[in-house]
Amino acid sequence: MTAPPAPDPDNPVMAIGGPPGKVAARTADWADNSELIADVARLGYIVGTVLDPTYGEGTFWKAWRPDFLVGTDLDPEKSGWILRPLDSSLSRLRCPKSVDFTDLPYLDLSFETVVFDPPYKFNGTPDPAEERYGTHKTTRWQDRLDLILSGVDECARVASRYLLVKCQDQVVSGRVVWQTDMVTDVANLAGFDKVDRFDFIGGRVQPSNRTKKCPTCAGTGTNQHTGIDCGPCDGSGRVPASQDHARRYSSTLLVFERP
Ligand SMILES: C[S@@+](CC[C@H](N)C(=O)[O-])C[C@H]1O[C@@H](n2cnc3c(N)ncnc32)[C@H](O)[C@@H]1O
Repeated sequence: MTAPPAPDPDNPVMAIGGPPGKVAARTADWADNSELIADVARLGYIVGTVLDPTYGEGTFWKAWRPDFLVGTDLDPEKSGWILRPLDSSLSRLRCPKSVDFTDLPYLDLSFETVVFDPPYKFNGTPDPAEERYGTHKTTRWQDRLDLILSGVDECARVASRYLLVKCQDQVVSGRVVWQTDMVTDVANLAGFDKVDRFDFIGGRVQPSNRTKKCPTCAGTGTNQHTGIDCGPCDGSGRVPASQDHARRYSSTLLVFERP
């Protein structure tokens, strides 16, 4: 059994951003998700045979790896890994195969821990650099939410003990979508209790709307009575917007346990 790094009573694992001094400085002590994952393992939340159904580039497992890790992805180039601990000589076996996290080819309760990192970002201009996260294509945020939640449900089906889900509360179309609450509701319905939450500071700051639909012409750009260009928006259909809700620059890792 590969023991995760031992907890240090003088330097406890923190829920937000890493050790307190660094949080006060507003820089994350977890340099990346792999350091976060190592801390999560330190608290005993990643045990037994582990499934990562959104393996991607495998960056979660660069600092620590469990005894037996299966890493799959929809993208066959990123899928089909069977991984042993980092210090093991037989560390990587591979048979590429696309696996959809909404339809996992495993029996119920097959893995003790499932670590799920879906493409959870809703908005912003699609960026080719985000291809590795599966968020580079434009999708309706409702479709993205449905995908994430059905993935949570499917991951819960195959997880016998711990289910870890990366997600983010976000402002989209002028309202806050409480993704963390929705993920929690689905996990609860599947029989899991929330036992912890980590907030990882970093990454792209959520964008704020620069413009909104013109209320005078309802975005048409035309005055409905005169048929000429709408005055308040100069015919563009958009007017400057003020910020409606707080933006975040953190993502959340929720930890659920099957009682
Ligand atoms: C946020 S990234 C995961 C990054 C990963 N944790 C890492 O360390 O590199 C989301 C991943 O989900 C994958 N993905 C998107 N839709 C999927 C689906 N339906 N089934 C399986 N994987 C999917 C994407 O290809 C992408 O690799």
